[in-house]
Amino acid sequence: MDMPRPKPRILSGVQPSGKLHLGNYFGAIQNHIALQDRGEAFYFIADYHALTTLKNVAQAEADRAKKARQTARSAAEILRENVRDVALDYLALGLDPARATFYRQSDVPEVTELAWILSTVTGMGLLERAHSYKDKKEKGIEASVGLFTYPVLMAADILIVRADQVPVGRDQVQHLEMTRDMAGYFNNTYGRPIFPEPKELLSHAPVVPGTDGQKMSKSYGNTIEIFAEGKALQAAVAGIKTDSRTVEEPKDPTTCNVFALYSLFATPEEREEMAQRYRAGGLGYGTVKAALVEKINQHFAEARERRRDLAKRPDDVEDILRSGARRAREEAQATMELVRSACGLR
Ligand code: ADP
Ligand code: TRP
Repeated sequence: MDMPRPKPRILSGVQPSGKLHLGNYFGAIQNHIALQDRGEAFYFIADYHALTTLKNVAQAEADRAKKARQTARSAAEILRENVRDVALDYLALGLDPARATFYRQSDVPEVTELAWILSTVTGMGLLERAHSYKDKKEKGIEASVGLFTYPVLMAADILIVRADQVPVGRDQVQHLEMTRDMAGYFNNTYGRPIFPEPKELLSHAPVVPGTDGQKMSKSYGNTIEIFAEGKALQAAVAGIKTDSRTVEEPKDPTTCNVFALYSLFATPEEREEMAQRYRAGGLGYGTVKAALVEKINQHFAEARERRRDLAKRPDDVEDILRSGARRAREEAQATMELVRSACGLR
């Protein structure tokens, strides 16, 4: 076995599903960025994974466009633009390519080879138990073989760089359990301890509520985008549901979505002061919403500048992703040498 690493190797993937929202920011991105200094970080944009739902995304967009008599983007255009948006969002929010390896999954095609090899040591039963597959099927998404084997590709992403820690949300924990199972099946089948057992790293971030009070999620259409500005930001915040209390009436901050979102940006003192104003009465929801817009504007001011600047330099963004891929491929190819040799493919 290799020598233990001085710093843990951290890896996570983000699906390129368009514009990221405050739930993604407080639930995942902030944590990813903080972890750049805690270990050797690998972050990638999971474009191969996105292909499992792209057809549905493109169809939904085509239906909306038809109603609005607009032209819809092709599936390929949607994917390319979504990848670009996620890359810009992460870089603008502080992902530093000098400290973390940042790449596009499809630039490391070795993962698909490893996924195939892992699929040959993995039982159908393991995949049939996957919640994400069962949930998507229940939502009426017609299941492709790729959707079914999604967890195998995810295991390959993680195992190919032999990551130690994987920061993810609670919804991904089962995928990590499956990854450990697949690492074990491979090691046992071929009698070589090539793969370590990666652990999930759960962030302690609360579930960020959306404008309707449910979990913020693009599938519920209740998001506030991280990089919304001006009128679009105001409209999103104005849409946050509140109760019908008048300005004069005292209000309960603990059940208010505007307060919950405001709290994510406020210092403990500001939060306490706002809570007192709620309880005292004389504070309208409009005022709190204006305070929230102000907080969002302050918090993301620098990131917006960086994003605008990066968006003008698509070649530089492309260079960052390619040089990240070169680094990731070195690791991937070294792992594949061991894997091929263990299986007798060489
Ligand atoms: P969506 O629900 O919008 O499709 P994803 O499932 O792509 O979002 O989320 C990517 C990551 O962002 C998740 O693994 C989770 O950690 C985080 N996340 C998403 N929504 C929220 C939320 N409302 N609150 C906290 N974290 C969230
Ligand atoms: N399945 C993850 C999600 O939907 C994205 C992902 C793909 C991922 N491969 C990964 C996350 C590897 C962590 C590690 O959020």
